[in-house]
Amino acid sequence: MEIYSILLLCSTLLLFFTAPIYAQTSSPPAPTPTPTSSPSPAPAPAPAYVNLTHLLSVAGPYTTFLSYLESTKVIDTFQNQANNTEEGITVFVPPNQAFDSLKRPSLAKLTQDQLKQLMLFHALPHYYSLSDFKNLSQVGPATTFAGAGQFALNFTDTSGTVHLDSGWTRTKITSSMDSTDPVAIYRVENVLLPEAIFGTNIPPVPAPASAPETSPAADSPAADASAKIHAPGTSPPSSSHRIINLGVWSQMVFAVSGVLVLLL
Ligand SMILES: *[C@@H]1O[C@H](CO)[C@@H](O)[C@H](O)[C@H]1NC(C)=O
Ligand SMILES: *[C@@H]1O[C@H](CO)[C@@H](O)[C@H](O)[C@H]1NC(C)=O
Ligand SMILES: *[C@@H]1O[C@H](CO)[C@@H](O)[C@H](O)[C@H]1NC(C)=O
Ligand SMILES: *[C@@H]1O[C@H](CO)[C@@H](O)[C@H](O)[C@H]1NC(C)=O
Repeated sequence: MEIYSILLLCSTLLLFFTAPIYAQTSSPPAPTPTPTSSPSPAPAPAPAYVNLTHLLSVAGPYTTFLSYLESTKVIDTFQNQANNTEEGITVFVPPNQAFDSLKRPSLAKLTQDQLKQLMLFHALPHYYSLSDFKNLSQVGPATTFAGAGQFALNFTDTSGTVHLDSGWTRTKITSSMDSTDPVAIYRVENVLLPEAIFGTNIPPVPAPASAPETSPAADSPAADASAKIHAPGTSPPSSSHRIINLGVWSQMVFAVSGVLVLLL
């Protein structure tokens, strides 16, 4: 009985000595990690009319694309489709930088008519939400505003990322600028070049040279995305750490109260 009391006393002392250590590790009142990482495509109440000119001029670095749309008057075709049809429209918008870096083939030699076709090639005469592309990729080449055949675009959906293939251009949707039926505007990283204008004699891309050249640019949004996924990932360990500490605390409270009951 005496040994038992000593054991109890020892364990009580041990608990009291170790308690400050746990108190220290758990003391920083870490703010509860609120999972705000979900990039919700806020389904705002549908505005009936989307002014494409306005959207493209304020949404970001898309002024080159917009100026081509305006100089070829394709903006009217697109706006009319957005305004007046049930089908709606899906537009793929490359940023200015995609036009700047386009050296081969160059757009400088195109006739006004070819430029118009090039612009029409950047849209589908139907509204597609991002989730619709999975289905679309199984249907086969999609007819663009410029037409079918060599003016069609191929889509593939690889685990949620929508890739576009025109033969000359392989790119992907990197963000949604607007997607409210009947108007979808998506950012793509490259100017879409149709075989109907540039021919089927596509220069083979030298694999070793192009891989490092294209992959960082092409993959950077993905890298950003994974970085974003990883960033909040640093908080779960601390929260589970707190949970462990809580467990230790409740055990200590249990033990101490048990000892007190025995001693009294
Ligand atoms: C659309 O937006 C452009 C640029 O902001 C503006 O100049 C134009 O008047 C707008 N069109 C309509 C019909 O509101
Ligand atoms: C689209 O609708 C707006 C607002 O109703 C109108 O001002 C504009 O002229 C229309 N544009 C076309 C091309 O139908
Ligand atoms: C998917 O495509 C098929 C044709 O291949 C069509 O019948 C079906 O309605 C589509 N589903 C959706 C959800 O769009
Ligand atoms: C698009 O896909 C079709 C068949 O699904 C194929 O015949 C065609 O070559 C593809 N076009 C491009 C540009 O990859």
